[in-house]
Amino acid sequence: MTSVPLLEVHGLHAYYGQSHVLQGIDLVLGREPLAVLGRNGMGKTTLCLALTGLLPSVRGSVRLAGHQLIGQPPHRIAALGVGYVPQGRRIFPSLTVEEHLRLVPRRGTSTGDAWTPERIYALFPRLAERRRQPAGTLSGGEQQMLAIARALLTNPQLLIMDEPSEGLAPVIVEHLIATLRHLVIGGLAILLVEQRLAVATALAQRIAIMVSGRIALETTSDMLLADPALQQRYLGVSAQRAA
Ligand SMILES: Nc1ncnc2c1ncn2[C@@H]1O[C@H](COP(=O)(O)OP(=O)(O)OP(=O)(O)O)[C@@H](O)[C@H]1O
Ligand SMILES: [Mg+2]
Repeated sequence: MTSVPLLEVHGLHAYYGQSHVLQGIDLVLGREPLAVLGRNGMGKTTLCLALTGLLPSVRGSVRLAGHQLIGQPPHRIAALGVGYVPQGRRIFPSLTVEEHLRLVPRRGTSTGDAWTPERIYALFPRLAERRRQPAGTLSGGEQQMLAIARALLTNPQLLIMDEPSEGLAPVIVEHLIATLRHLVIGGLAILLVEQRLAVATALAQRIAIMVSGRIALETTSDMLLADPALQQRYLGVSAQRAA
């Protein structure tokens, strides 16, 4: 007997006006993290926008635990359990940490272990220390924590993250990966979009590589890390830069 996958994407197409960007994406995601890797402009952010209802011009099928998401507005998709951490974090510089957390529409969970600001502050003590500071005064790493915190407060089943490591120093990225692993152990499904091979492979064993709006290859971290020619072909990175 097969259970319904958490996320099932089939034949997903997306457009910006006449520009046909996603050209038939198929993906299945269970509880195991999946990383989508791809160079600049391959359609990774467009995929995130299509999955979260933020792009009006889409067709195909996206099911979350069997519920069709295509055609649903973003707030409904969030309420069904999809959390989103956008590329570039999108925080409000003049609002404090506390105000950001208070602004998130809350959703109950069936399991009872809902995220609260208190749980967020326990996960990210730096945010607790800075709760009354305007978010614009936070470091890049702290702003990323805040973006993740905001998504967690919607109590997602699935967290979609768009290049969370972008612009962060290596030591901060290590901390980010440790946090994401902790969330995975806690039962959260993660779809991680990345350009950095090392970040993707540190979190996910399952890797999908995007080229020009399509999934060109599904592979594993181990296979990709062991194959510099494959990295070069799909990601244009040398083995050294990938480290
Ligand atoms: N608002 C838009 N209007 C028209 N074309 C767009 C728009 N946003 C993105 N595109 C185009 O769609 C394609 C995919 O862009 P997308 O932002 O999804 O790529 P990406 O993989 O996220 O890139 P990056 O790694 O730089 O974030 C690109 O060719 C881009 O120029
Ligand atoms: Mg992008």
